Amino acid sequence: MKYYLKTYGCQMNVHDSEKIAGIFTESGYGQAEDMKDADVIVINTCSIRQKAEQKVYSELGRLKSAKKNNPHLKIAVAGCIAQQKGNTLFKKFPYVDFLFGPGNIDSLQKWIPVPSGTGQACKTHITALHNNPEYHTKTLPIKREGQVKAWVSIMYGCDNFCAYCVVPYTRGRERSRPSKDICNEIQNLAEQGYKEITLLGQNVNSYGKYLSESIDFPDLLKVIHDVTGIERIRFVTSHPRDLSQKLIETLRDLPSLCEHIHLPVQSGSDKILSLMNRGYTYKQYLEKIEMLRSMIPGIAITSDIIVGFPGETDEDFQHTMNALQEIEFDGIFAFKYSQRPDTAALSLPVHIDESVKSQRLSMVLNIQEQLTYKKNKALEGKILEVLVEGPSETDSDKLTGRTRSNKIVNFYAENKSSNRSNRSSSSSSLIGRLIQLKILEAKQHSLLGEVV
Ligand code: SAH
Ligand code: SF4
Ligand code: F3S
Repeated sequence: MKYYLKTYGCQMNVHDSEKIAGIFTESGYGQAEDMKDADVIVINTCSIRQKAEQKVYSELGRLKSAKKNNPHLKIAVAGCIAQQKGNTLFKKFPYVDFLFGPGNIDSLQKWIPVPSGTGQACKTHITALHNNPEYHTKTLPIKREGQVKAWVSIMYGCDNFCAYCVVPYTRGRERSRPSKDICNEIQNLAEQGYKEITLLGQNVNSYGKYLSESIDFPDLLKVIHDVTGIERIRFVTSHPRDLSQKLIETLRDLPSLCEHIHLPVQSGSDKILSLMNRGYTYKQYLEKIEMLRSMIPGIAITSDIIVGFPGETDEDFQHTMNALQEIEFDGIFAFKYSQRPDTAALSLPVHIDESVKSQRLSMVLNIQEQLTYKKNKALEGKILEVLVEGPSETDSDKLTGRTRSNKIVNFYAENKSSNRSNRSSSSSSLIGRLIQLKILEAKQHSLLGEVV
């Protein structure tokens, strides 16, 4: 029996798919390269913006003929759209068999047919959308994508209710995993040879809330840091309001914590930040940036921006442009505001024209493109530590890896004069290793380096 799995959305969803794949693998399934070879298809969905939702609906529309061609095929929809739309999805896509939310991926274990035929055949129109209160204490099997870097969930859900955001409705209230479970998982990863871990949560800085043990995020980092074999630790995402001086000191003091933080600012206007319910002013955000930069020299800071939030005037938008110029992020993700069901921003009075949003988005992207390039350019000639991940996607003669500041560096494993077979054997021996590279050239989205 084979499963086919397609994933939309954020890192958390990609990692959830590793858990879904883990459950299939444990149940004796193989992975189908092609959808038409599959006995079970799972679409793991994202609902963050309207566009993401539309993409999933087109995909689900295409599955109708797959089911027609193979009536035994079973189709499951997972993730944030399944959670939010629930049973109404069966009306729109009657050939879908099973819906399960991000808060009870373990329910898949009971639903999938067991290859030996001893298990029950999976039933149709079944839902597992309640938020399983035990979910955060479960250890699920995980089939990981890579062998060098791994994701580790430390918390689920979000309590922040930013006015634009659907996540608190799809992923539920914040729940932290017990620190012992997290450390066991990381210990196992270290024993398997993983070198880098990224701790995942919608708001990692509030780790520990509601846990019976007395621990906060910096404390957790200290415990994890003691697991030997893990060379690099990263985490996403941090909420600016909850970024404490204690966390910055921890970042400074623990050598395996990488010098990079993703700290979404969303807007440079205090009026908009308040309407967004973000819980900080631009000045407070800037103070945190200054503290980060003064205590951790060379730290890379990336961010998220939303343009065209309801009520955003030209002047508000100008504050965002000024913020980008003042802060000089290493990189950003920028989005046009998108109306999401259930969210508070829906009822705000002044929604912005699509054409204005598009214009603002391209202004943001333009200015950031120059700033990112400037940041990359400043690294030319520097010698940086890179964790080698594998062959470069764009040029198979090169290897690729990331700096501690999370910048992509492509490089030749050997000088070009050595013959091809020598090169490829020395290439594979570098994978998973930390090496020193000299940065030769800055590109827009990556760096070109050479082995020192
Ligand atoms: N938990 C993280 C990430 C949430 S989703 C955080 O709090 O930062 C990632 C990004 O998507 C957000 O930072 C925000 O910039 C963007 N986003 C979320 N909802 C959106 C919406 N309705 N329209 C446009 N962008 C949105
Ligand atoms: Fe959404 Fe805000 Fe929670 Fe991030 S912190 S997931 S933007 S509600
Ligand atoms: Fe999308 Fe859900 Fe992640 S809405 S961005 S998959 S938390």
